[in-house]
Amino acid sequence: MIKFDMIKQELLKSPKIWLVTGVAGFIGSNLLEALLKLNQKVVGLDNFATGHQHNLDEVQGLVTAEQWQGFNFIEGDIRNYQDCETALANNGEGIDYVLHQAALGSVPRSIADPVTTNAANITGFLNMLQSAKEAKVKSFTYAASSSTYGDHPALPKVEENIGNPLSPYAVTKYVNELYAGVYAKTYGFKTIGLRYFNVFGQRQDPNGAYAAVIPKWTADMIKGEDVFINGDGETSRDFCFIENTVQMNILAATADDDVKAQVYNVAVGDRTTLNALYSSIQRSLVSNGIDNRDKPTFRDFRVGDVRHSQADIGKAKSLLGYVPEFTIQEGIDQAMPWYIRFIG
Ligand SMILES: NC(=O)c1ccc[n+]([C@@H]2O[C@H](COP(=O)([O-])OP(=O)(O)OC[C@H]3O[C@@H](n4cnc5c(N)ncnc54)[C@H](O)[C@@H]3O)[C@@H](O)[C@H]2O)c1
Repeated sequence: MIKFDMIKQELLKSPKIWLVTGVAGFIGSNLLEALLKLNQKVVGLDNFATGHQHNLDEVQGLVTAEQWQGFNFIEGDIRNYQDCETALANNGEGIDYVLHQAALGSVPRSIADPVTTNAANITGFLNMLQSAKEAKVKSFTYAASSSTYGDHPALPKVEENIGNPLSPYAVTKYVNELYAGVYAKTYGFKTIGLRYFNVFGQRQDPNGAYAAVIPKWTADMIKGEDVFINGDGETSRDFCFIENTVQMNILAATADDDVKAQVYNVAVGDRTTLNALYSSIQRSLVSNGIDNRDKPTFRDFRVGDVRHSQADIGKAKSLLGYVPEFTIQEGIDQAMPWYIRFIG
């Protein structure tokens, strides 16, 4: 039995109260679903900047009525300190574990509008960190990012070796880590940062100018529209299925103090080129009855993108007991029926 299974059994026996920020988003709503299915109580905070009510509605349909009763949604903004305090107070019941996901994702969005990204990702982060410290929560886990590796050339990426950030978004995620480090040293408030590497799966938004590659391509292929590859298609990423990411959040939240005040890579430890990704999505569509044989269109490389990304997940394995349970193909296959329903 892997550590994750043991933790899940403990949580079922002794339920906790969680705060998930960004709960109406992709990762947040998947955390919500996993926690409610474990009979946990969850407070959710979101301002619907990029999240959707339909994600919450979908989770409601996937859990029992009793489990859904354990969810308390607060529409609020992490840029507003009082909203963070209100969520953490939880009507006097308090919060055990915080999973801080709320932020404005996307490198291109941050290049187009660095000020708005900064406000959510740095001011909002600091508000959450400070209010969680004041509320004396048991743990604070936050969404960091592989973009923090910036221009460091080494592969695979090891937590200690980072380069210069390549976008305003990467700056914000790095500043989160700097604040987290200072809070550990100055206040003894030990957090865990999870450097996500291209997470994908059900409920990841395929719409809008800043959609991530897997949902965007999948939706375009389902609709029979052109798929654009930025560059030659040999750019590579360590794509990580959402269920692996959920596992890491739960492991991090419940971890012992001696493995906190650190950051961890969250990935599979594998590298897939965009050309291979295109074929994987095409294969999965075929096995779901959608025979799209179109070829992608290649265009210029995108500013701010790193060429290759692959994680070393040794630290997460040895210190947190992480065992990724899904490969990229398994993840794509699992998420595909959702995309077909959502787009169709
Ligand atoms: N998806 C990935 O591959 C990936 C990779 C690295 C890091 N991350 C980080 O993971 C986290 C979750 O990302 P996601 O992919 O689920 O994105 P998402 O856009 O689906 O979810 C983010 C959620 O945060 C909410 N939010 C944004 N600003 C807010 C504010 N000011 N107040 C309250 N809520 C706010 C949004 O409405 C949304 O529901 C983010 O911090 C993101 O930077 C994601």
